[in-house]
Amino acid sequence: SYSLFSAASQPTNMSETSELADIDWDNLGFAFLPTDYMYIFKCTRGREFSKGELKRFGNIEISPSAGVLNYGQGLFEGLKAYRKQDGNILLFRPEENALRMRLGAERMCMPSPTVEQFVEAVKATVLANKRWVPPPGKGALYIRPLIMGSGAVLGLAPAPEFTFLVYVSPVGNYFKEGVAPIHLVVEHELHRATPGGTGSVKTIGNYAAVLKALSAAKAKGYSDVLYLDCVHKRYLEEVSACNIFVVKDNVISTPAIKGTILPGITRKSIIDIARSQGFQVEERHVAVDELLDADEVFCTGTAVVVSPVGSITFMGNRVSYRDGGAGVVSQHLYSVLTRLQMGLTEDNMNWTVELR
Ligand code: COI
Repeated sequence: SYSLFSAASQPTNMSETSELADIDWDNLGFAFLPTDYMYIFKCTRGREFSKGELKRFGNIEISPSAGVLNYGQGLFEGLKAYRKQDGNILLFRPEENALRMRLGAERMCMPSPTVEQFVEAVKATVLANKRWVPPPGKGALYIRPLIMGSGAVLGLAPAPEFTFLVYVSPVGNYFKEGVAPIHLVVEHELHRATPGGTGSVKTIGNYAAVLKALSAAKAKGYSDVLYLDCVHKRYLEEVSACNIFVVKDNVISTPAIKGTILPGITRKSIIDIARSQGFQVEERHVAVDELLDADEVFCTGTAVVVSPVGSITFMGNRVSYRDGGAGVVSQHLYSVLTRLQMGLTEDNMNWTVELR
C-alpha cells in the first residue's frame, strides 16, 4: 500500500494527555479531552474491513495526498455511553449508528464495517476507556467513529485505502447555555444541503459547510443557526448539528426526512417516545411561518440531547417562546429519554446495550 497512514506507536506525550484527576465532572462542556485508547481498522479499496485493533490514543500519520484531506472523502458517527448507578455502562442504540454509517459510506463510495464489527469496535473502545465515562448524572462518554479515505489520490477518485477509527471523549452539555433554552437565528442566504446532495449522510463536509453561518450567528449572540430548504426558502430543515421539532396544540411536527435532512437517531427515538406517550407526531413540511405561533420548539441530537428553544429570529423578527422556552413537552420527552439512556427506568424499548 502506498498510504503512509499508521497509528502513532509511541504513547501520547504528556502535553496531549488529559489527567482524570484534573477533570471537573460538574462542568464538562463539549470539548475534546484525549483518553487512553482508540480503535483502528483498515481496508483496501474493493475489500472488506477485516480485523481491527485497539491502540494507545495518539496522533495518526497520513499522506498529504489522502482522499480525506484533499477531496473530503470522510464520514463520521456520534453516540454516547452513560454510567449507571451500579457502575455498568449503557450504550444507546449502537446498531442504529452502524446502519446509518453503512448508508453514508455507500453514498461516499467508501466501504464500511458490518453492523457487528462496528458495535464490537465501539464496545471495545468504551471498555478500554472505561475510567473516562463520567459518573452517573454528570454527562456521558461521547463516541466518535470515523471512516476516511486514508490512501493517497491525486486525480479525483475514491481512495485506494480506507481507515475506520473510533475515539472517545467525556462530555457534558453541548451548548454553553447548558440545559437552558437556546436562541436560534434562521439563515436566509446560505444552505446546508441540496436535493441530490449529501445532506442526509454524516459526511464531514456537511459540517465544514455550516461553519460560516454558525460563526456569524455566534458573533451576534445566537446559540445556533436554523436552515431552510434551498428550493422554496420556506420550509425548516435542521440546525447545524441537530434536528428540530415544533409543538402546537400538543401536536408535535418535525421536517420529514427527504434527502436533505440528517436522519437523527435521537430524532427517531423522540418520535417513538412521543407517540408512546400519546402525542400525535407529524413528519411533514414545516413552514418557517409556523414558528410564529408555535407553543414550543426544541432540538434533538446525540450531542445536544433534547434542547429547548427560547427564541428564534427570522427576517429580523424575534419570536420568543412561552416561559422563556422551558416547554413542558420538551421537558417531559427529555426526561423520558435520558432516564432510559441512563438506566433509571426500565428499557422496555430495548434500546440500550449494557457493558460490564
Ligand atoms: C452528534 O450529535 O453526535 C453530532 O454528530 C453533531 C456534532 C456536530 C457534534
